[in-house]
Amino acid sequence: MFTKQTIEDIDLQGKTVLLRADYNVPLDGGKITDDFRIRQSLPTIKYLLGKDVRLIICSHLGRPSGPGDTANSLFPVAKRLHQLLDKPVEFATDCIGPAAKKAAAGLKPGQVLLLENLRFHPEEKANDIGFAKQLVAASGAEVFVQDGFGVVHRAHASTSAITHYLPSVAGLLLAKEVDTITKVVEQPERPLMAIIGGAKVADKLEILQRFIKIADFIAIGGAMAHPFLVARGIDIGDSLYDKAELPHAKEILRAAEAEAHKRPFVFAVPHDGVVAEKIDKAASTRIVEWTSHTMADIEHYPHRVPAKAGTVRAREKILDIGPFSASLIAGGIQLAETVIWNGTMGVTETPGLQGPIGPTAHGTQTVVEALLGELGNKPFTVVGGGDTVGYVGSHHLTDHFDFVSTGGGASLELMAGHKLPGVEALRGKK
Ligand code: 3PG
Repeated sequence: MFTKQTIEDIDLQGKTVLLRADYNVPLDGGKITDDFRIRQSLPTIKYLLGKDVRLIICSHLGRPSGPGDTANSLFPVAKRLHQLLDKPVEFATDCIGPAAKKAAAGLKPGQVLLLENLRFHPEEKANDIGFAKQLVAASGAEVFVQDGFGVVHRAHASTSAITHYLPSVAGLLLAKEVDTITKVVEQPERPLMAIIGGAKVADKLEILQRFIKIADFIAIGGAMAHPFLVARGIDIGDSLYDKAELPHAKEILRAAEAEAHKRPFVFAVPHDGVVAEKIDKAASTRIVEWTSHTMADIEHYPHRVPAKAGTVRAREKILDIGPFSASLIAGGIQLAETVIWNGTMGVTETPGLQGPIGPTAHGTQTVVEALLGELGNKPFTVVGGGDTVGYVGSHHLTDHFDFVSTGGGASLELMAGHKLPGVEALRGKK
């Protein structure tokens, strides 16, 4: 249960409200390529406008070098917001100082203003008190609403310091994110499955440790699997791999084995993969099954299996999980009531020669089909993490999942059981 006050708990009628959103959206030459975070902020905005507030929205975008970094301007977001709300959205060229003050002062009840990127001022990331006071002064806000779930794991001026100067409550998106994610890790409908992919074990170490305690089935995919394979003595050829990850992988494997002795628990590391010498749609791929070599036997029947047929060669890279591993995960999904999915199973960005599914995206595709119930069971699925959410968005699947989080790092921190500074700073429920 969300324990902080939300916009539904206080009187906001006719007030001036400063809303912190997370509009850190992907841009390509000034064009927004995925507006998911903007769309997810609409319920809060509409609720506030229904209360006739003067609405001033602030956000960061990217990691700009300073105010002149126009590639990180929020102006394209103002335009998109205008389209989505179907009403004018004013834009101020700075988030503090005379430009912000003048624009805020001109707002009438029910009108919206978006301020320029908070991170054009280094004081934002420094959680600077003076900067927070300037934000309050320029906006003339009487209430602060935190709705930028993606950024509440950071203690910055617009997530932390500002809450000392204004009554501060949560927006609807923040409350929904925290509620949903907390519930699936604390009181999930069982069996609970976690499908964890992506690149680095170090980034997901804590979350893996926690899931070993709470999940019934953990499946590993993507480049994250490589240190686990090395730990099990399997050749990974030229696959993406950082030696420093090996001790982490060994630690996780030990913890997983210990847990499996205590209760029914599966920790699945891929036993086959799709390999190629380069990441290219025209590169020839092969499937390597490195545990029991059944695939090698099938592929070469009735001839003798060549030596090392079940080994990733020195110049090959593992770019996807293989069909056996994908089927095992899909099978797990048939039994699961709840699934948390974070990280793709392979390289999904390379398009195919003959269609939209690339040669190394079949593992991820199989997992998606299973999660969406195409094989029968449809578990309650929570999708989190920047690259996974991007994948789901680019395949127009966002609305098909039960819950897609707007947070990358924030959702991982929450799943790992950490307190989020931007949430902690808000008023508690009475
Ligand atoms: C995100 O995209 O994860 C958030 O907007 C936070 O951005 P940051 O990692 O640059 O703080």
